[in-house]
Parts: sequence; C-alpha cells; structure tokens
Amino acid sequence: MTQNAIYPDLQGRSVFITGGGSGIGASLTESFARQGAKVAFVDIADAESQALVERLGDVPHRPLFIHCDIRDIKALRDSIEQARQAHGDITVLLNNAANDQRHKTEDVTPEYYDERIAINQRPMFFTAQAIIPQMQRAGGGAIVNFGSISWKLKQGGMAAYTMAKASTQGLTRSLAHDYGKQNIRVNTLVPGWVMTERQLKLWVTPESAKEIEAGQCLAGRVTPQHIADMALFLSSAASSMCSAQEFVVDGGWT
Ligand SMILES: NC(=O)c1ccc[n+]([C@@H]2O[C@H](COP(=O)([O-])OP(=O)(O)OC[C@H]3O[C@@H](n4cnc5c(N)ncnc54)[C@H](O)[C@@H]3O)[C@@H](O)[C@H]2O)c1
Repeated sequence: MTQNAIYPDLQGRSVFITGGGSGIGASLTESFARQGAKVAFVDIADAESQALVERLGDVPHRPLFIHCDIRDIKALRDSIEQARQAHGDITVLLNNAANDQRHKTEDVTPEYYDERIAINQRPMFFTAQAIIPQMQRAGGGAIVNFGSISWKLKQGGMAAYTMAKASTQGLTRSLAHDYGKQNIRVNTLVPGWVMTERQLKLWVTPESAKEIEAGQCLAGRVTPQHIADMALFLSSAASSMCSAQEFVVDGGWT
C-alpha cells in the first residue's frame, strides 16, 4: 500500500478497531499499523484476520487480533480490556464493523431486527462507553463512527440496516458534546460505495457500476484506502478542531 501522509502523533498510539480483519477494516488495520500505531482489532473472520496479521510482519508493532463477536457485549468489553493490557490506554477508537445484509421490510421479525441492531448499532455505544474513561485518563482521544451513504441516497432494500447507520450521527453528536471539553473528538466517517471484496462479490453488477458512474462527480472507484486515509486524518492531531461532524468520502455522490 502507498502511504499518502505520515502523522507522527499516531506513532505508538493504542488503537482499537472493530471488524479490522477484512474489507475497509483491513485497510484501517494496515494503515494505522504502518503509521507505527499499536493496533488491536476484533473480528469473527478468523482466517482473514490471521492472514492479515501474518502479512504485516514488517510494521513497527504487529497488530493484535482478538476473536470477538461484537454482538456479545461482555466479550466486547473483555476484548477492550485485553487490548488495553497489551497496548496501554486506547486513544483511537474506530467503530467500523457492520453487516449490510439486504432484507424486505415485510419479512423482518423482531428477532431479525434485534440482530441487525446488535451488529450495526449497539456495539458503537458500548465500545465508546468502555474506552472513554481510558481517553479521559490519557488526556484525550478520537472516536470515528462509521456511517453510510446508503440511507442518504434512499437506496432502500435494507431498512433495519439503514436505520442503524443513520443513527450513527446521533451518537457522534451526543458524545462529541459530552466529552469534547476533555479533548475527546467524535466524528462520523461516511463511506461512499467502496469496492471491497464483499461488495464486488455480492452487490456490484454491470448495472450498478453504471449507477456509480452517473452518481459520483469523480471518475474511478472509492477504495478502502480512500476511507482509511480519512480515518487517519480524523484520528490525528491534523484534525484537532474537528468534532461532531460527518466526513463523506464518496467521490461526490451525495
Ligand atoms: N463497503 C461499502 O461500500 C460501504 C458503504 C457505506 C458504508 N460502509 C460502512 O463501512 C464499514 C465497513 O464496511 P465493509 O464494507 O468493510 O464491511 P465488510 O462486511 O466487508 O467487513 C466488516 C468486517 O466486520 C466483521 N464483522 C461482521 N460481523 C461481525 C461481528 N458480529 N463481530 C465481529 N466482527 C464482525 C466482518 O468479519 C468484516 O471483517 C461498515 O460500518 C459499513 O456500514 C461500507
């Protein structure tokens, strides 16, 4: 990967990433590790996560992979504690993991609805709750919550997912208000349609490729690296007066 910028203040920082083993998350893990940060990430994709750690043999601190299903809040809290013990107080939190399974509104049961929330919304709150005291102790920190352009574009076809994603900004603004005076910055990073393996395999068709070309102002495709570049900026001192905002990386689509 090419490093577009170096942020010296990210060196040695304790970073916690949800879903850091594949997709955009793998780019986040690699990008922060290449800045010299101490990265811990949770994921359920064991093989991909382990392969990523193997591949990153040349970074200053090899990332720590912790198997954890983030739907289980106790396990999530235990993972955060394991990361703290390994790397010290966490000062960067990237709430990245999600699952964009499509569903028809008429088919959604209360159980399925709860499951969508358990993956796409609830962990963001509880990671922040567990990590904010560490940031307070350390004198500050940055939280980046991942939103989505899907609901902004009225994409449809997955209302329980888009509802959870739209709520990200509510969490961001509340936390930004409550902890800003303690130098904790909270922002939402809104990815456009990002060409991850999963998107290419499941959802990107010749028709939707045309849709991207018609929708984006910019030519080309949004890649995981474009998203990681914004996450680095939002986590570093380069964005030290940015908080409570949404930062959209979508090639100018919305
Ligand atoms: N790819 C896109 O086009 C796109 C568009 C808009 C928003 N986003 C947002 O960006 C973020 C990353 O998206 P992505 O496309 O890389 O997703 P992805 O599905 O490719 O990867 C998500 C990662 O989270 C992990 N994960 C899923 N469920 C988990 C669980 N229960 N416990 C622990 N880990 C779990 C997966 O194994 C995977 O490594 C998400 O918040 C998503 O909503 C992505």
